[in-house]
Amino acid sequence: MSPTSILKRKKSVKSASNTEGRLVPRKVAFDWSQTPLEWIPGQPFASHFINEINLLLPAGEFWFCRLYNKALPLVTDEKLRDDVQMFVRQEAMHARAHGSALVDYLHTHGIETESNTRREDWLFETLLSDDLFGRKTPKFLERRWLVFRLGIIAAIEHMTCVLGNYALDNKEWEKGDPVLLDLLRWHGAEEVEHRSVAFDLYKHLGGGYPSRYYLATIVMPMIFGLWVEGAAHIMRQDPRFKAKKPSVFRPWVWLEWQRVAKTGQLPSLFWLLKSQLPFFSPWYNPVHEGSTEQALAYLNSSPAAARAREFKAAA
Ligand SMILES: [Fe+2]
Ligand SMILES: [Fe+2]
Repeated sequence: MSPTSILKRKKSVKSASNTEGRLVPRKVAFDWSQTPLEWIPGQPFASHFINEINLLLPAGEFWFCRLYNKALPLVTDEKLRDDVQMFVRQEAMHARAHGSALVDYLHTHGIETESNTRREDWLFETLLSDDLFGRKTPKFLERRWLVFRLGIIAAIEHMTCVLGNYALDNKEWEKGDPVLLDLLRWHGAEEVEHRSVAFDLYKHLGGGYPSRYYLATIVMPMIFGLWVEGAAHIMRQDPRFKAKKPSVFRPWVWLEWQRVAKTGQLPSLFWLLKSQLPFFSPWYNPVHEGSTEQALAYLNSSPAAARAREFKAAA
């Protein structure tokens, strides 16, 4: 076969990547000095509920990065390989940004987070580590265990894309603190921008529909449970909610969530569950789950990204 026909053949083979253009890792710098704990004025429940994501995300996103670096040598599609590398850089920046909110914002306001984040650390660093149940994974299971975990990430990334769209569209939050809103929208916009990568990688390495289906049924309730428990953990530290003894195992936090959701300050549980349905379809394609144009429009105007560029120029 001549080099020209090889090139033609290469061009006709469909890429495993569904991401348009090249992903861009953006540096950001947030100034937390003026952000109040009740960052949506008059809405302590919604403020704590959203503040919780700073507890939940860093451990999970660093786990994504470790796993993707492990999967990278197995990727044979050039474009997808680049997507994965850029995805890792974006997720690492997300984890660092939420980590900075944890230390410079929540801790500054006296919120104790460690007893909660310890659970996430165990989940991502022990239970879902390369070792199965604390023992070295047998060679023949290594790839399956890897693809299984990539399926978990694909399910989570569908959720983060849904939430990214929500953050970009929520007008009620515009009454709140601009720095926290920027964190949510910058992160949300990058989730929308890289929404296809996890699913493309999972499929490229052999992940199939049945396992995606059952994985999602396990992962989605687990994430909602962790989120609600983390939010309850913050609420237990607020004298206004102490008497309610907030807990994931008590109805109050779930009922109050639905009540507050009606005011437009939070997505409702029903809406979130409904938004997960497309992932269960055999024809699911993340491309249809968001607008890259809308995401890029926000990313080009993010104050934290502009601040990081100013720091770089001044250095
Ligand atoms: Fe992220
Ligand atoms: Fe993501």
